[in-house]
Amino acid sequence: MNVIKVKDYDEMSEKATEFMVDRINSLKNPVLGLATGSTPEGLYQRIIEKHQQDEVSFKNVTTFNLDEYVGLEQNDPNSYYNFMNEKLFSQVDIAADRVHIPNGVAADLEKECMEHERAIEQAGGIDVQVLGIGGNGHIGFNEPGTSFDSKTHIVDLDESTIQANARFFHSIEEVPTQAISMGIETIMNSKEILLLVSGETKADATAKLLHGDISEDFPASILKKHENVTVIVDEAALEWCRG
Ligand code: PGA
Repeated sequence: MNVIKVKDYDEMSEKATEFMVDRINSLKNPVLGLATGSTPEGLYQRIIEKHQQDEVSFKNVTTFNLDEYVGLEQNDPNSYYNFMNEKLFSQVDIAADRVHIPNGVAADLEKECMEHERAIEQAGGIDVQVLGIGGNGHIGFNEPGTSFDSKTHIVDLDESTIQANARFFHSIEEVPTQAISMGIETIMNSKEILLLVSGETKADATAKLLHGDISEDFPASILKKHENVTVIVDEAALEWCRG
């Protein structure tokens, strides 16, 4: 893994933007894997600004999102569909039929998972996958214990994930308990991966990622086996190494 250390969230977002704009502009038909959550928000905001300055276009870009909550309609304020639309897609020139986010209210969820896999394959695979990391080491919604061989699947969310995400809902009872998530193998099949890590709540996860063993108990550890991973990590997430 190529680890880039930065000062703070803003610098992480800045560097991530340079990285993504470079890839979008150098690939003919870029296929991007995208993540939701607080971590990539600064990246998306800056990409929109680059688009407004005519420095990047999404005309030939195809996207696949990592995950979606089971049971939330697309127009639910907390759906990842809504997040992506608000934070990125509605503000760049991407064609609607090139955007792929699993449908969390599909009548047949298993079929929806297979569709997501099939569409990724049909697009020729993911060129660059953007990832965040959960405090418990999850990538996408692949919680500890998920098989490294997993493809897009239905997952039961960890109690720690439900608690971490409750900040977006009125009450913890409203947080969905299941999600559709790209599998770990799906993520590992991406040609290149950009992992963004910021803040002291990620310090333990960062230490385990950089220094721990590769184990299904800590899903992000598998990234060490991928040959083209860039990690952009800020000082707060690296706090452990100073203490
Ligand atoms: P966050 O979530 O970006 O909101 O911290 C990351 C994750 O849980 O994967």
